Amino acid sequence: MKIISDIQELRDHLRGQNRASFVPTMGNLHEGHLSLMRLARQHGDPVVASIFVNRLQFGPNEDFDSYPRTMQDDIEKLEREGVYILFAPTERDLYPQPQEYRVDPPHQLGDILEGEFRPGFFKGVCTVVLKLFSCVQPKVAVFGKKDYQQLMIIRQMAKQFALPVDIIPGETIRAEDGLALSSRNGYLSSQERAEAPELQKILQQVRHQVLDLGARNTQALSEIEKLAESTLAKRGWEPDYIAIRQQSDLAPPSNESLQGGEPLVILTAAKLGKTRLIDNLEI
Ligand code: PAF
Repeated sequence: MKIISDIQELRDHLRGQNRASFVPTMGNLHEGHLSLMRLARQHGDPVVASIFVNRLQFGPNEDFDSYPRTMQDDIEKLEREGVYILFAPTERDLYPQPQEYRVDPPHQLGDILEGEFRPGFFKGVCTVVLKLFSCVQPKVAVFGKKDYQQLMIIRQMAKQFALPVDIIPGETIRAEDGLALSSRNGYLSSQERAEAPELQKILQQVRHQVLDLGARNTQALSEIEKLAESTLAKRGWEPDYIAIRQQSDLAPPSNESLQGGEPLVILTAAKLGKTRLIDNLEI
């Protein structure tokens, strides 16, 4: 595997390749990321991964400095997956000047759910992803469904800018007890780790209530959301949101769309101790 930090050198290596398949990451790779590498391999060749902890998407009180950086371990994992190039720019490589041009996603997608609790997050994500696309110029790029809203926002960005990149979604990989794999799981104490699968369990209960109990009006949905939040809170979590939304645009469903059988997704973010976890479940 070639490890490249310089944009020009990356372009030189990829010259003439028009089927590259790209997986952007922030490193600290786990089985979830590796499954995205395998998916990337099915959709193009060569597979290019990136590792870059993107300062622009972290808020002032977030974990940019303490975000786990495990480059040597990550390199070994990517080598085992047969990744052709690892693009691992430094901040100076990717942002040689302050990044003043930014991609601002629309308010109705970028400032809800994660965007409400992490202001500027999706602006930082879209800006770096557009820049990484411009460096790698892939034919396809793979994003995990664990970051459901991110996936949707990047898809819309690619569409609205007519980027020549197909965005491929990868399924969430879970531990045996149901906890979605995430680099931030490493922050959990052993007691918190034992509690963490409750987040997915509560989403399954919500899905059960929506499907089996036939909750098909907005009032019933909002009661289910509130009940789920208070159940989590009673177990010691600090929920930011549990929201039942339309899969198509993440907007709250209307009574008409519910009756029309609109596909839904339940999204959640909640803090357990100091660790903020997110998860989702399609209905
Ligand atoms: O999902 C992530 O790891 C990051 O948000 C991404 C897409 C690599 C952009 O920094």
